[in-house]
Amino acid sequence: MIKEKVLAKFNELFGEEGETGVYFAPGRVNLIGEHTDYNGGHVFPCALTIGTYGAARRRSDRKLRFYSMNFGHLGVTESSLDDLKPDKEAGWTNYPKGVIWAFGEKGMKVEQGMDLLLFGNIPNGSGLSSSASVEVLTGFILKDLFGFEVSNQELAQIGQFSENRFNGVNCGIMDQFAIAMGKAGHAIFLDTATLKYEYAPLKLENAKIVISCSNKKRGLGDSKYNERRSECESALAQIGEVVGINALGDLTEEQFEQYGRAIRDDVCRRRAKHAVYENQRTVKAVEALKNNDVKLFGELMNASHVSLRDDYEVTGIELDTLVEEAWKVEGVIGSRMTGAGFGGCTVSLVKDEAVDTFIEKVGAAYEEKIGYAADFYVVEIGDGPARVQ
Ligand code: GLA
Repeated sequence: MIKEKVLAKFNELFGEEGETGVYFAPGRVNLIGEHTDYNGGHVFPCALTIGTYGAARRRSDRKLRFYSMNFGHLGVTESSLDDLKPDKEAGWTNYPKGVIWAFGEKGMKVEQGMDLLLFGNIPNGSGLSSSASVEVLTGFILKDLFGFEVSNQELAQIGQFSENRFNGVNCGIMDQFAIAMGKAGHAIFLDTATLKYEYAPLKLENAKIVISCSNKKRGLGDSKYNERRSECESALAQIGEVVGINALGDLTEEQFEQYGRAIRDDVCRRRAKHAVYENQRTVKAVEALKNNDVKLFGELMNASHVSLRDDYEVTGIELDTLVEEAWKVEGVIGSRMTGAGFGGCTVSLVKDEAVDTFIEKVGAAYEEKIGYAADFYVVEIGDGPARVQ
């Protein structure tokens, strides 16, 4: 059991004295609605049963002692509540630190230090939101250890705030929201303009969600993520001169075709086109699911990938190979990249009987073309953060 393993390591490093809690926050996969969350559009992610485990205990001084079983070679790092500043050298510890800092900014000052050990069973930097998982987990732990009154939705917002302001990545709300609000067996249809959401049961009869990990690492901070965001902002400013909108997500496809030319720069126009069409695709995909039309859902996933590849340009040879090879396999309902892109993972809906062939064929073609192997995970949709009993 993971809980026992985590607890044993925690006790070895930090001693057995005092009350220790063990917690879990999931990772997430987005089914459709990519790069729409900072454009006031819709997303359709779900939480996974894999994610990050954390063992934590309050301290009586103001020290913060952190250890990650995934980065064991770094050992225990020690810092203090009096020195909560982002530090390039500090690696993963910037995420829990950022959340402690963000709690303070939101009027919930943490006045006692803590010992914290993490263990993640989602691959780091793979596009399954390992960082948002750590952020929501940290928030959940702070709430439990120090008795703050904060809802799961607020934990999502605090996580995003810390990622934006402490870690310098201008991410939208999707990842933290999907993780904090996760519900087993359901995907979350979220309107990022209003934060109104709906749980949609994902009853995939005779099919599985398969995640293919390209093993091409990506750090959002040094990727072109922030650049895409500003391209969308300039597109919005230009199209906003001819049509009154607050966000690209307000536009229908017809309106985009009518007014899109107001965006003078070709690159920005293509970015905006993706944002508009992807948002509409997401709405249609959820509708299709409600009508039990899984085939249409899969086609919309495929169209999403094409748009991310050609108009948004966030895929790259690794993700394109995984998806294009997946499309060739009989029994694949739909396949697309998921998350920010530029490496990371793809998500595919695969009929039960085709899963083994899928892994074998896509795996072999990928290794042949890219020169190293991909990893495959058949995943389940899980719940949001919890204390592990
Ligand atoms: C990353 C960000 C999200 C979202 C996706 C792209 O995962 O953290 O907010 O923008 O990329 O859809």
